[in-house]
Amino acid sequence: HTNQSWGGRFSEPVDAFVARFTASVDFDKRLYKHDIQGSIAHATMLAKVGVLSDAERDTIIDGLNAIRGEIEAGNFDWRVDLEDVHMNIEAKLTERIGITGKKLHTGRSRNDQVATDIRLWLREEIDVILAEISRLQDGLLSQAEQHAEVIMPGFTHLQTAQPVTFGHHLLAWFEMLSRDYERLVDCRKRVNRMPLGSAALAGTTYPIERSITCELLGFEAISGNSLDGVSDRDFAIEFCAAASLAMMHLSRFSEELVLWTSAQFNFIDLPDRFCTGSSIMPQKKNPDVPELVRGKSGRVYGHLMGLLTLMKSQPLAYNKDNQEDKEPLFDAVDTLRDSLRAFADMIPAIQPKVEVMREAARRGFSTATDLADYLVRKGLPFRDCHEIVGKAVKYGVDSGKDLAEMSLDELRQFSEQITDDVFAVLTLEGSVGARDHIGGTAPKQVRAAVGRGRELLANR
Ligand code: ARG
Repeated sequence: HTNQSWGGRFSEPVDAFVARFTASVDFDKRLYKHDIQGSIAHATMLAKVGVLSDAERDTIIDGLNAIRGEIEAGNFDWRVDLEDVHMNIEAKLTERIGITGKKLHTGRSRNDQVATDIRLWLREEIDVILAEISRLQDGLLSQAEQHAEVIMPGFTHLQTAQPVTFGHHLLAWFEMLSRDYERLVDCRKRVNRMPLGSAALAGTTYPIERSITCELLGFEAISGNSLDGVSDRDFAIEFCAAASLAMMHLSRFSEELVLWTSAQFNFIDLPDRFCTGSSIMPQKKNPDVPELVRGKSGRVYGHLMGLLTLMKSQPLAYNKDNQEDKEPLFDAVDTLRDSLRAFADMIPAIQPKVEVMREAARRGFSTATDLADYLVRKGLPFRDCHEIVGKAVKYGVDSGKDLAEMSLDELRQFSEQITDDVFAVLTLEGSVGARDHIGGTAPKQVRAAVGRGRELLANR
């Protein structure tokens, strides 16, 4: 016989290393608040259905509240020999209130307990993450509105393609984040279902009322099958999938910030407080925050793959494998939340270098498409226009002139259709202003998109 709560059928104590190897308390103690919340709901329900007396319920609840206070004050002695957060708290409860503490676990198993705890915890974390996404999006809207007229080169293949407005570019990030937000909201619906009452795997013989605990814990629905309720972790995988996509977006965003702060691009200024220096090169100011976020995307993808692999081929119902769900999930949550926080702090502080951006947009024949479209309006087929402008660009490359720097006569070598109204078309303002439709880069459209974005945020 051992002194473990499950020790009745054992004839020797568990090996000391095995005890440490199988314990999860070092990381799952993070669930203490939700574990206590779940236990209070469970005890309340047990009293309502007559399994506990009201006095027992009150003793248990007082004890649990006191334990929460102890944990939060840093006075709780977490014991590895008690394996996990659940048994640490239960053992402490019995130590405090005596034999009534031993009644809390009636009609419950750690299997439905832990599944409930993780869902309660994740639901709350998703809400924090959603708020950070909104904060970042709000920063993007302010920047986009302020810089609706600032012109920069837009790229394909990282080669200058067409001029775009800086505001428009920033709003591309806004769109991606909106989808990330939607995905997490959707994921939250499936997180928000209650496995409590599944007990170990088959349900329980006590007359439990799951609707009572469901209501007390604010779950949207009760899981419909006890075997499934205790064993699946698809909700955690789904969260990691949504988190991976969000991190993928942030990694792309990061990459642009790293490029833009380089001396070669020099498009933006990132305030010093988001950068660090070099221990050897005195001139350095490195964009550490975006670099780190870019790098951290990898660990979230890793957690997604880790959890998929954890669950693959697991037979019903609970297996100890599932204890391995927590560290990846915790880290995915922390990484996404902190990355979003860093971005939400940083984005309102970036400053575009308007003249540098403009100069870059002027180079690289960024208005060549505008010239082709101009010739289409003069009645030529688009493919011929493409060819004509291609020749003009070649002439420009050879003579070192941009399209807008050529004289009318020089331009007319390539087409007689070109007249002096062409110069309005070749300006950067003309180019961006002409893309004046929903989703286009014209400043007017950027302002309209900012308006729509504000409305979206206000209705969340
Ligand atoms: N620490 C365990 C986990 O995280 C709790 C459930 C343990 N259940 C069991 N039957 N051993 O999965």
